[in-house]
Amino acid sequence: MTVICDIHDLQKVARRRVPRMFFDYADSGSWTESTYRANERDFRDILLRQRVAVDITDRSVESEIIGQQAAMPVALAPVGLTGMQHADGEIKAARAAEKFGVPFTLSTMSICSIEDVAENTSKPFWFQLYVMKDRDFIGRLIDRAKDAGCSALMLTLDLQILGQRHKDIRNGLAAPPKPTLNAALQVISRPRWCLNMLTTRRHTFRNIVGHAKGVGDLSSLSSWTAEQFDPKLAWKDIDWIRERWGGKFIIKGILDPEDAKMAAKTGADAIVVSNHGGRQLDGAPSSISMLPAIVDAVGGDIEIHFDGGIRSGQDVLKAICLGANAAYLGRAYIYGLGAYGERGVSQALDIIHRELDTTMALCGERDVHKLGHHNLLYPPGSR
Ligand code: GLV
Repeated sequence: MTVICDIHDLQKVARRRVPRMFFDYADSGSWTESTYRANERDFRDILLRQRVAVDITDRSVESEIIGQQAAMPVALAPVGLTGMQHADGEIKAARAAEKFGVPFTLSTMSICSIEDVAENTSKPFWFQLYVMKDRDFIGRLIDRAKDAGCSALMLTLDLQILGQRHKDIRNGLAAPPKPTLNAALQVISRPRWCLNMLTTRRHTFRNIVGHAKGVGDLSSLSSWTAEQFDPKLAWKDIDWIRERWGGKFIIKGILDPEDAKMAAKTGADAIVVSNHGGRQLDGAPSSISMLPAIVDAVGGDIEIHFDGGIRSGQDVLKAICLGANAAYLGRAYIYGLGAYGERGVSQALDIIHRELDTTMALCGERDVHKLGHHNLLYPPGSR
């Protein structure tokens, strides 16, 4: 029995339990992976300021994210193919999030559909939207999210064309896996995963299959993004999407202060500072290094959410100190899911919560809303 102390322990178990093509899909970045690595690395350069002899009883990390109560300033990020990390992965993750009291975001590229998740959960979740050329289909997707009672729509702007991930090509990534020797070897070496997968019929992109017309090979992410995603997407398109949706609206994939200003002008409720987990523009700076400039540009105008490189409660705390209202877990919960299903996602959330709470106390703070630059120190000479 593996002792689980932190998110990296969950990562190790997931690596053993999830077929390589799906573990690698989550656990990698585009091209040289330099941005992917920078996301985690740059957190390490931010130092925390220790304070002592401060009353640290009655602490609270409870927060509000776009007006919704959350047990901590954390949400689960949209992650494609989550239902391939573990059978019915999106349903499992959404359930763990609802029990814990943090928002879950379902990806357009999910395996379980909007309806699957709605039928198997009892609280509203958020839906992440990619814009495809077929606007009727997008309109219907938005309506489906409304009908399912989703409480926020998150529009992603940084993936109209897919950054190449070498491992996906080498592993022959497809959902469901293709009948090749390479894929068969990856799958049969994970018997527990196979047995779980036999218990569900959810094996491909169920938001799309049976709903979108004229899609070629849907099992291959790279071919259907190339075929379907709309490279013409521009700021002017945001209006009709927001209007059709009519509820809380979040724009994800902002890494530049000028884009942050454009996003704030759309009237969105929040932006997510993100480089797509280092999966898109390789060579872009880490998300955390861009957060301060974006907070300076639009801090008072719009809620600022953060994703990229969060692997601990300490990382969440640093992002909050730098001005984020909330931080998203992507890989951090995916490792939990791959390792132990719903229980693993709950474990990941517990780990992050404990680390955040204890670290806040060691910084001499009792209330997550009071965190700020005064809790940080930087290495000499870095600013
Ligand atoms: C999809 O969101 C991906 O990054 O693969």
